Amino acid sequence: MAQGELLGEHESIRAVRALAARIAASPVRQVLIYGETGTGKGLVARMIHRLSVREKRAFVDVNCAAIPASLMESELFGHERGAFTGAAVTKPGLIEAADGGTLFLDEIREMDPQLQAKLLTLLDTQRFRRVGAVKSIGVDVRFVAATNRILLSEVTAGRFRDDLYWRLQVVPVNIPPLRARGDDVLLLADAFLAHHGDRCGRRIRGLEPAVAQAFRRYSWPGNVRELENLIERIAILEAEDQVLMRHLPDRLVREVEGRAAPSLPGTGEGAAHLPLHLGFHAGTEDFQRSLIEAALKEAGNRQGRAAQRLRLSRHALRHQMLKLGMA
Ligand SMILES: Nc1ncnc2c1ncn2[C@@H]1O[C@H](COP(=O)(O)OP(=O)(O)OP(=O)(O)O)[C@@H](O)[C@H]1O
Ligand SMILES: [Mg+2]
Repeated sequence: MAQGELLGEHESIRAVRALAARIAASPVRQVLIYGETGTGKGLVARMIHRLSVREKRAFVDVNCAAIPASLMESELFGHERGAFTGAAVTKPGLIEAADGGTLFLDEIREMDPQLQAKLLTLLDTQRFRRVGAVKSIGVDVRFVAATNRILLSEVTAGRFRDDLYWRLQVVPVNIPPLRARGDDVLLLADAFLAHHGDRCGRRIRGLEPAVAQAFRRYSWPGNVRELENLIERIAILEAEDQVLMRHLPDRLVREVEGRAAPSLPGTGEGAAHLPLHLGFHAGTEDFQRSLIEAALKEAGNRQGRAAQRLRLSRHALRHQMLKLGMA
């Protein structure tokens, strides 16, 4: 497995790969990546950088949740000597470090509203001022922001600036959760088995059929990261040359057994249990996804018919599918 490659053959993942390549080749300066935890947002951000003309310049990774709000401004924008107590020397910030390259703003939702305003100005003008500076500096940076929450609801709740939201929303990339990628879970499991088997100096042949079945049914709240960690653990700890049901954690087995018999009419396999462990947002999205899938199936994949069945306009269905990473 080539390190850092976005693996998968599901239509939705092919679409993400194609979109990332198009963005990389374009002059667009701001990108917003949405996906649940562990879906590959960091991977896609790096991919956009690697495929672009910016490739030889810096990729600067900033986690907005990890840096305290009080330090964030001078981390990002830098400061002039004497700008505040303790600012003994002039220090350029991460924005300058990313000049000519890409600045990855992970967990953008956590950014302080005042800084959001400053970032917006920078996006609009490609100029900024270090803290305490009079003169502004011009930079050429592509901003790739990521979030695991639907930002629009944060905007409605007043926690995220709507002007910045719309500015970032120009080119959105939605990465679907692992449970919505069909058999990709098996392809990824095989790739991780080969990779981690190798690292442990052994060959693991694959999954016993019951495990493959369980992997297809499980909801993977931690997505690809959860799958990779599980496979790595099995490669390290288990002696058998195949992944067996008894290697799987109880919580996975319990959930899969709990959802074996669907009881909600018309929604098909997997919708029977209430996915409380996903929480309200991911759980609701999951249900919306099931409804759309069921309608499309019934309509033989004709979106107009499926929209009628769901009592949505075609446009609204299209919008929902984009939002849910289904298109
Ligand atoms: N499609 C994929 N193919 C191969 N590896 C993947 C894929 N998706 C994710 N991974 C791997 O899974 C792990 C999690 O991915 P990544 O860190 O990009 O997720 P994330 O969406 O940024 O998660 P978080 O929101 O928790 O930061 C990484 O080790 C990444 O390399
Ligand atoms: Mg990440």
